[in-house]
Amino acid sequence: MEKKWWKEAVVYEIYTKSFCDSDGDGLGDLKGVMSKLPMLKELGIDCIWFTPIYKSPQVDNGYDVADYQDIEPDYGTLDDFKKLLDTAHSMGIKIIMDMVLNHSSDEHYWFQESRKSKDNPYRNYYIWQPPKADGSEPNNWGNRFREGNGSAWEFDELTGEYYLHQYSKKMPDLNWEYKPLREEIYKMLNWWLDMGVDGFRLDIFTRLKKPAGFPDATVASSPELDRNGFVLDNNMCTNVEGIHEILHEINRNVFGIRPCMTVGEGSGVTYENALTFVKAEREEIDMVYHFQLAARKRPPFTVESFRKIQSEWMKVIENNGWAVQYLSNHDSQRHVSRYGNDKEFRKESAKALATLTLTCPGTPFLYQGEEIGMVNVEYDDISDYNCCYTIGDYHSMIANGKTKEEAMAFIVPRSRDNARTPYQWNGSENAGFTTGKPWIKVNPKYTDINLEKDMKDPDSIFAYYKKAIALRKEHPAIIEGNLKFHLENDPQIIMYTRECEKETLLVIVNLSDNNAKLDIPEEIKSNKWERLITNRENIAPSLDGNTDVLPWNVEVYKKL
Ligand code: NOJ
Repeated sequence: MEKKWWKEAVVYEIYTKSFCDSDGDGLGDLKGVMSKLPMLKELGIDCIWFTPIYKSPQVDNGYDVADYQDIEPDYGTLDDFKKLLDTAHSMGIKIIMDMVLNHSSDEHYWFQESRKSKDNPYRNYYIWQPPKADGSEPNNWGNRFREGNGSAWEFDELTGEYYLHQYSKKMPDLNWEYKPLREEIYKMLNWWLDMGVDGFRLDIFTRLKKPAGFPDATVASSPELDRNGFVLDNNMCTNVEGIHEILHEINRNVFGIRPCMTVGEGSGVTYENALTFVKAEREEIDMVYHFQLAARKRPPFTVESFRKIQSEWMKVIENNGWAVQYLSNHDSQRHVSRYGNDKEFRKESAKALATLTLTCPGTPFLYQGEEIGMVNVEYDDISDYNCCYTIGDYHSMIANGKTKEEAMAFIVPRSRDNARTPYQWNGSENAGFTTGKPWIKVNPKYTDINLEKDMKDPDSIFAYYKKAIALRKEHPAIIEGNLKFHLENDPQIIMYTRECEKETLLVIVNLSDNNAKLDIPEEIKSNKWERLITNRENIAPSLDGNTDVLPWNVEVYKKL
């Protein structure tokens, strides 16, 4: 395995708006992040991924970029960013930027120019199409936010044409067919690398290429979500032939010619096609985070699916690719609520899930707040929600005759706002996030769940994350070892070994709310094991004979 810093790193995602507010305006900011670098260092992370902090009207909280080379004034200035970058580097923490290359904001200069006239030099930076003969949209594609009449095309009276927006109409899609646009983007990416950033997270990179001729969609990916007859087919603009040429070209102009780590948001990337993107020889990107394990819309993973998915991704690594481990991010629910038990086993299940993320093969991406076991929220009024999907879904359900209760029952467990409530620093008002009025309500559970409380408790979730992250650094088997599952038919227990030349580690997790019988396989029984970490200090399952494992118990051992 070729050594790379990002194979050994633990990445921590910061959603700046909700992290720490230094000036009392209710919005997190860069100075706030700066003040918390010591805490991140203590946790043991190696790299920060900032979700977009560029100048933006914030229609999609920064994924609508108005200037790729400036910082959102609510978050600070470019100077604040440079100071943060230098300080982080001096502490041994790298920084990667979120690059939104599929679309920009309609307030970007490029779009402002593009819409002015058909012969404007920026016209082809975006995707414009004439109306059909009857004046209607160029095709039946639906937008993802279920905005407006549901279409992915917005008519602009100024030039009498439609522009494409897969997301909000305020987020027009960029035209990757157009070389001057591509070149401008390479310049911009290199500018960030010149400044010293360590790489990029690539927003929905599989959707940069659109199908020739813009054919109508025939299959709705979420038929239960009505779009007035417009159709959202997830596959229509995903992994379209030609996407690899685009990625390879970016790599040859930016990623691959200088130190730069890349992680793509892999809609449409599975273990079946992953190597076409991440096999090192392809010179495209380093890794993708996929949606096979953790996905907002899919049912939670089971022990069976977990074994299968991890084993298949291990093959990607063995074939000179790489993998990502994560269970939640700013687009999902809180994973302890979704995959664990956020009531009677919050602490135990948060630690068990953390162990899976931190000991399975690949680079772990943690999301702010998971290290203190933050949980979902349940607000009962739509006005407490901010996420554009959530609001779009709600209003479209009401317009289609659903009651308020039905619409809320649909959005509450799914909303991305579950992950976007402010970080819970302490038990004081607004969880210590801001002295002002937070931009989105703080989770009322903050008096019980907060960092200050965890810091005082040696058995806290935070203390466990620190230990598990430190464990990764001490044990090469976690980075470079192979992966072998045991008890492959067990309905509750996930058991695997990670083995490299130097050592063998054993991980056992009871992924359930009930006791589980553990039938120790012979090959485990016949060896001696030293316990490295556990979430049940006082009760160790015996590895010599059959034993009971408590709910959400996790154990990591090393072969002696
Ligand atoms: C994926 C981002 O993670 C999400 O937050 C955003 O809404 C879409 N891409 C559009 O940029």
